[in-house]
Amino acid sequence: MNKRAEPLLAIEDLRVTFPGQSTPVIDGLSLTLDRGEVLALVGESGSGKSMTALSLMRLLPAGGTIAGGRIRFDGEDVLSMSDRQMNHVRGGRMAMLFQQPQAMLDPTSRVSTQIAEPLRLHRGLGRRAAMQRVLDLLRDVGIPDPAVRARSFSHELSGGMAQRVMIAAALSGDPDMLIADEPTTALDVTVQAQILRLIDEERRKRNLGTLLITHDLAVVAALADRVAVMYAGRIVEEGPVKAVLEAPQHPYTQALMRCSLLLSDKGGHLLSIPGSGAHARELSCGCRFHPRCSAASKHGIESRCMGSEPALAADQDGHMTRCWAVQAEKETAA
Ligand SMILES: Nc1ncnc2c1ncn2[C@@H]1O[C@H](COP(=O)(O)OP(=O)(O)OP(=O)(O)O)[C@@H](O)[C@H]1O
Ligand code: SF4
Ligand SMILES: [Mg+2]
Repeated sequence: MNKRAEPLLAIEDLRVTFPGQSTPVIDGLSLTLDRGEVLALVGESGSGKSMTALSLMRLLPAGGTIAGGRIRFDGEDVLSMSDRQMNHVRGGRMAMLFQQPQAMLDPTSRVSTQIAEPLRLHRGLGRRAAMQRVLDLLRDVGIPDPAVRARSFSHELSGGMAQRVMIAAALSGDPDMLIADEPTTALDVTVQAQILRLIDEERRKRNLGTLLITHDLAVVAALADRVAVMYAGRIVEEGPVKAVLEAPQHPYTQALMRCSLLLSDKGGHLLSIPGSGAHARELSCGCRFHPRCSAASKHGIESRCMGSEPALAADQDGHMTRCWAVQAEKETAA
């Protein structure tokens, strides 16, 4: 296959399981991401966004297993890499930002050491060169007095400052892809905007493929090129941001949009959609959103919705939706 034609990241039919859970938490997920592109992943709590991100890094929590599918990154098969190769990828070409930057920093070592260590390990820089690079990176991410801050411990940093340090650490390996899992949810609103701007600037400068996990649809509208909507371990809608946000097709995406317009709660999570997705994965057949969907009865297609699960069907513009009602409407219009 021509490597140039391949996306930076291609996830195909990914399945993630945990012991004691009868159905996969990620079930047949396929996504692609190009260099320089921002793909937003949205969905309710528990829909599988973080498990998707952690699968890419092969950092699932204990018990989590990638039970099927393929992940190709820059033309290489991530799932068949040795642990050593994977460590190298994680410290370099693939970088991740988490919701709680303070928790990801080692409280016992100085900021400089934490950023310098991967530079020395993965890039073979000597001590002086690594320290110089640390100062440059801290300056790049907008840390004032980098030489002073480099000597700080994580508890001496504000949340925004800690996330800037995490961004510096992520950029230190000169990555091709950035995975940002709710990178600003724990921060004050004004700091959130600064951090998102910084991520976007670095993305442009470095042509970083970016997987942005967020509950904030305004952030999706401002930063993303494409958006994928997850429900109960599956993608239910995906497409160019403008198409999906201006004309959401799946009843679940429409409900997310209504909640987002109404407000978000203090914890920053989407207000809940009536009903629960908690047991949706356990439905033996049919559409997983069916127990919460009013569109099925409105269109008189309940037995179809309960009997089998629709596939993702695409428009000409690449807007894909997994819904019998949407497919029926398109058939009628055709
Ligand atoms: N450590 C774990 N052990 C067993 N199951 C887990 C574990 N972590 C997550 N899960 C399962 O995986 C599902 C997806 O979790 P995930 O953390 O990916 O959700 P999320 O979409 O990131 O939610 P949030 O918006 O709250 O961060 C959960 O509903 C839960 O059933
Ligand atoms: S397939 Fe049926 S139940 Fe599922 S979202 Fe569409 S209309 Fe609702
Ligand atoms: Mg999560």
